[in-house]
Amino acid sequence: MAAPAANETVHGVPPSLSAKVVGSFAYFTVKDRLPTILTKVIDTIHRNKNKFFEEYGEEGIEAEKQTIGLLSKMRNELQTDKPIIPLTDGLQDTESWNQYLERQQKLHGDQEPVSWFKSPWLYVECYMYRRVQEALWLNPPISDYDVFNEGKTQSYFESQQAVMALCTYTEGISKNLEELSKNQLFEHFDKLLQVSLWGNKCDLSISAGQENSQKTSPIDSLSSLQPFILVNDTNMVWSTLISAQRPGQSEKTTGVRVDIVLDNAGFELVTDLVLADFLVSSGLVHEVHFHGKCLPWFVSDVTANDFQWTIRQTMTANHRWMSKSGVKWNTYLKEGVWSYHDHPFWTQPHEFCDMAADAPDLHATLQGADLVLFKGDLNYRKLTGDRQWDHTVGFDTALRGFGPAPLCSLRTLKANVQVGLQLGQAEKLTSQDPDWMTSGKYAVIQYHDSKSEKKD
Ligand code: F6P
Ligand code: MG
Repeated sequence: MAAPAANETVHGVPPSLSAKVVGSFAYFTVKDRLPTILTKVIDTIHRNKNKFFEEYGEEGIEAEKQTIGLLSKMRNELQTDKPIIPLTDGLQDTESWNQYLERQQKLHGDQEPVSWFKSPWLYVECYMYRRVQEALWLNPPISDYDVFNEGKTQSYFESQQAVMALCTYTEGISKNLEELSKNQLFEHFDKLLQVSLWGNKCDLSISAGQENSQKTSPIDSLSSLQPFILVNDTNMVWSTLISAQRPGQSEKTTGVRVDIVLDNAGFELVTDLVLADFLVSSGLVHEVHFHGKCLPWFVSDVTANDFQWTIRQTMTANHRWMSKSGVKWNTYLKEGVWSYHDHPFWTQPHEFCDMAADAPDLHATLQGADLVLFKGDLNYRKLTGDRQWDHTVGFDTALRGFGPAPLCSLRTLKANVQVGLQLGQAEKLTSQDPDWMTSGKYAVIQYHDSKSEKKD
């Protein structure tokens, strides 16, 4: 069987974005940005040689050498477009990754092997991060080392001014929460949703690990950023929350639940925690489930360790309202009002329309939410399958049946997939700003509810 051509639509579903389209964003990412990230990973491990020696003696030094050898080999495979090879580390998700490779091979046709430049970009980019994990896992004393930790903590510390401003703002709200009218509540919700949206501008993967933090007050920047929100379904998100209010809602079992599928650590995570704090303290929501990654992922994504670290740091900050916020967040966690979850599916390459079949337990979990917020660009790529959709295709079409609960994507655009735009909107943007889809300057708040009529 021969592979479909790069631009061929199969059964109404457009092809995946791929580095095989020379000159595309995917092509430059695989050719330039991914090797740069790998080189930084190698440097980080090398720089920490002494630490490994102190902790594990000669064994640590040997592990450092072996890990770097494996990573350099992978970088070479990538740069010379070698076939994608099965994983060998025997972890919980290894089998599933190898089955996915077989699936890709079938789709690709048997003429030539699936390789770095000829496969879907989403697949190879995810695969690279999983191979970084494999290189560490195969060298036990340093298996748990998070190669991206330094960048994530730095991004948190560099955003301190903005974090203080945010915590001061939320303290102001919480002082007179009881007296707020529904309109005032909506105004705060609207602002904090946008803060969480723009928090996504600060990821480290798009800048290949370069410093990319928030320095000014996020609340003050909102009005100037408004014109860059291309789709804004905030009203629908609000209506969902309002209509989810149920009698007896003070009891936890009948309360409203929002799930947040997290993206990046550092400032973005703080914006998500602040939003979740508002949802709970306003009484709109009774439970928030946070979903993070079970391994270091796409440079800056949140792991359980980052999540706990961020709350601890905020609790012990030398700023009154920051530490007050941190203490409150910790209490929410202790009381089970907030909970952190991870699942291997979030660090696999699947489009989310595969979730019901490939991770039915996770799909069923999300079905228990009244609203699911998907943070960030990678989640948007997975929601839409990272495909060459026409920009005017509806979000519902691109989701291809995915919709365990009403959902909303909060995403700044860093990859060239965007659906649900008005006729002519994309053309106008291209003429004004050719990089609009990849610069992180534009954003969407895009909602979908599979139970209601077409909403986009
Ligand atoms: O390659 C850059 C990139 O990896 C995008 O493709 C990816 O979607 C983005 O960085 C990560 O962004 P985010 O952290 O918003 O998911
Ligand atoms: Mg990310």
